[in-house]
This record gives sequence, C-alpha cells and structure tokens, in this order.
Amino acid sequence: MSSLIYVLNGPNLNLLGKREPAIYGHETLADVEVDCRRLAEELGFDLRFLQSNAESQIIDWIHEAREKAAGIVINAAAFTHTSVAILDALKACEMPIVEVHISNIHKREPFRHHSYVSAVANGVIAGLGTQGYQFAIQHIARLTKAARH
Ligand code: DQA
Repeated sequence: MSSLIYVLNGPNLNLLGKREPAIYGHETLADVEVDCRRLAEELGFDLRFLQSNAESQIIDWIHEAREKAAGIVINAAAFTHTSVAILDALKACEMPIVEVHISNIHKREPFRHHSYVSAVANGVIAGLGTQGYQFAIQHIARLTKAARH
C-alpha cells in the first residue's frame, strides 16, 4: 500500500504570506511545506507538496495521485467554488481526501460558501489557519494505517 500523501494547492496560494495577511496570515507556502514534510516524516509518510495557478495542472496531479497516493489533502483555493472538473477528477480517486481552507469560507462572502470539493471529501477543515494542513495529514495517516490492519 502506498505511503505517499499528495498536498495540492490551487491558485494564488503561491502568494501566501504576502496576500491579504489579515485573512491568510504571514506564513509562506514554503513554511507550510516544511511543517507538512516534518509531520509526514514523523508519521512514516512521503509527501508531494504542489501548487499551481492552472486548473488543468491540478487535475493532472489528481490523476497522478490516483495511481500513486494513499490520500490527498487539497486546498483548491478559488477553484473550490467553481470547478466541476476538479470534483470529477477527485471522484475518480478511491482514497481519503481532506479539503483544507486556511480561512473560514463560511464566514466570508456568500460565493465562498459552496464547495464542489466537499461533495467528495472525507472531511473539511476551514478557518484553522495553516494548521489545518497538519490536521489533514494526520487524518489521512490515521485512515491509511487503520486500512492496513
Ligand atoms: C481559500 C479560500 C478560498 O475561498 C480562496 O479563494 C482562496 C483560499 C483558503 O485557504 O482559505 O484562495 O481556499
């Protein structure tokens, strides 16, 4: 069984730390990646941590994860609210999927309240800041280990 977790990040998350810090905080995506790698290693998992501003690239990575991964953590950013194509790609993956949002999307503008990703996610973490990624990795590790026993 795979011990690889994909962490996928959508558009504008490359600007984390610089973009709207009152909402998204001061940590950069590189900082988040360091923390995720440390945790994954502690839990005995390898990590692919990826970001793209292009929907097609994210879909291609989901297809790759479908073949290789134990689970997917996804912050699809704005594509969360728009992309049936990302939903369809995730539907093709038979593995745990955890949706993460740094901000609490339900406390924000109404157009952020609907998520296509939630329809296929095992769980959704929103509003816990970048710590949400850590909880998501922990959950996938737990589900994967439970499935092995
Ligand atoms: C986000 C929330 C989305 O609504 C937004 O478009 C983002 C980031 C978050 O992590 O809080 O880019 O996914």
